Amino acid sequence: MILHTIEDVREQIKNWKKEGLTIGLVPTMGALHAGHLSLIKKSVEKCDRTVVSVFVNPIQFCPGEDLDKYPRTLDADEKLCNDAGVNIVFAPSPKEMYGEGHILSNDFLTYVIPPYFYVDKLCGKSRVGHFDGVCTVVNKLFNIVQPDYAFFGQKDAQQLIIIKKMVKDLNIPVEIIPCPIVREENGLALSSRNKYLSEEDKKEAFVLSRILFNIKACYDKGITDVKALTETAYSFLNEHHNLEYLEFRDKENLEGKTVADKDTQVFIALKIGNVRLIDNILLG
Ligand code: PAF
Repeated sequence: MILHTIEDVREQIKNWKKEGLTIGLVPTMGALHAGHLSLIKKSVEKCDRTVVSVFVNPIQFCPGEDLDKYPRTLDADEKLCNDAGVNIVFAPSPKEMYGEGHILSNDFLTYVIPPYFYVDKLCGKSRVGHFDGVCTVVNKLFNIVQPDYAFFGQKDAQQLIIIKKMVKDLNIPVEIIPCPIVREENGLALSSRNKYLSEEDKKEAFVLSRILFNIKACYDKGITDVKALTETAYSFLNEHHNLEYLEFRDKENLEGKTVADKDTQVFIALKIGNVRLIDNILLG
């Protein structure tokens, strides 16, 4: 069943809560792919009822980003969800979520702002305000759906860490379930934005996972010096790759590491043409 209003979702949730059913939420921006489907499958297995939200959240896009051209495939998304056993696809309009003349300025909206230490690095450095938009919409979705469990992909690792922090700091009664990255055969992590890649670019895009898998292999052989591990990446890069960052950080609190250990997560962002791709790997 597809619902477009908060009121309709609330009505349904109220009935499920009365019946004592557990609720899983899979928040998405649509253009669903096998990565999303793995989250949905987990929710359907674990919870009595599953809600998938499909909402291209305008307030998490920075000026000049791809808000207008972000892929919107609601009919196909709805079908995939129905086939996967989802009970509600919640697909609100920006107006439904943010009111009349929906707001792209934080002057008129109550925002949830994650701590500066978590957002002044990695993707937050180039996407200023992005995580404010993510936390705000995820918080709203939690309030609307009141899920027992919410499922997020490890592909967006900084997002996942920030959401876990928000849930802890704000005592939100939901359990966050992290779900492993799903990859194409060549190692490319699945993402809705892969749709922007030409066939040629796609061949180049496996460089991210190549670099990460190689770093993990070196770590497994006993190399822990972050400088040395970073240097291993350069042999994989060519003129098609524009590296934005390659960083070694703690998997819980994003502290930088100079010596890698089992709690170290390696984060990479790289542009191929105009397409910005991210990936990560946990060393332990
Ligand atoms: O990861 C995403 O697709 C989005 O950031 C999310 C969590 C659905 C919030 O809009």
